[in-house]
Amino acid sequence: MAVAVLTTANGREKATLSRQYAAQWQAARKEGQTPAIGSATPPLRPSRPEKPELLDPRDVPHRKPGSEAGRIALLHAVAHIELNAVDLHWDIIARFTDTKLPMGFYDDWVKAADEESKHFNLMCDCLESLGSHYGALPAHAGMWRAAEDTVDDLMGRLAVVPMVLEARGLDVTPGMIKIFKQAKLSQVIEALETIYAEEVHHVAYGSKWFHFLCGRHDLDPTGVFHDLVRKYFHGQLKPPFNEEKRAEAGIPPDFYWPLAAEAKV
Ligand SMILES: [Fe+2]
Ligand SMILES: [Fe+2]
Repeated sequence: MAVAVLTTANGREKATLSRQYAAQWQAARKEGQTPAIGSATPPLRPSRPEKPELLDPRDVPHRKPGSEAGRIALLHAVAHIELNAVDLHWDIIARFTDTKLPMGFYDDWVKAADEESKHFNLMCDCLESLGSHYGALPAHAGMWRAAEDTVDDLMGRLAVVPMVLEARGLDVTPGMIKIFKQAKLSQVIEALETIYAEEVHHVAYGSKWFHFLCGRHDLDPTGVFHDLVRKYFHGQLKPPFNEEKRAEAGIPPDFYWPLAAEAKV
């Protein structure tokens, strides 16, 4: 199932398939079944549509957020993030089956993948209602790098993807909601509020399974988190942080503040 989603190129089709498989999984689990995890070989890079053109982040044109074009560009960037997130969650499901993990690990990421698929569709709907669509603008090429860098390190994957990248989403989403409130675009506000509420759980799943693995290997979570982020994350951890939502998601301040302080030097 995971590989089928990863190898579907069209965004809407990828999202539909992802939601179908998630519903199938959840129905089986509700009936008390324990589906076999099996094993598969996920592609190093997931299939993607021909458009958007993927550019180096430095070459993606910046637009003023106060303008209509700026708002469309912002939604387009979020749609691109959500599509990557669909693939990231199915990838973590398929990639690490050699590591024995409780069924709850799979339940969590299937749910997260389902929600990302919904988020992608919501962003596409918003773009279309503004007369644009996903693929109309160029997008960030570096999004899959975190997955490639952590292709053989589950703890590294958890540290960088949900606990750094998705946690960053918690920091920036309230500001985006504000922009669309000023523009009085209720469809977008509602969509972003749904995304904001559900993303907290994805970060929490990351923290939960990171701590689970630290416990299994008798490791100090804070120190290991710092080491893994230094090893695999190429960006900077930048304040302001949404400390309240991060705490709700199980990311305490001593996880991120020391890394942010380092980045400034
Ligand atoms: Fe999302
Ligand atoms: Fe997410």
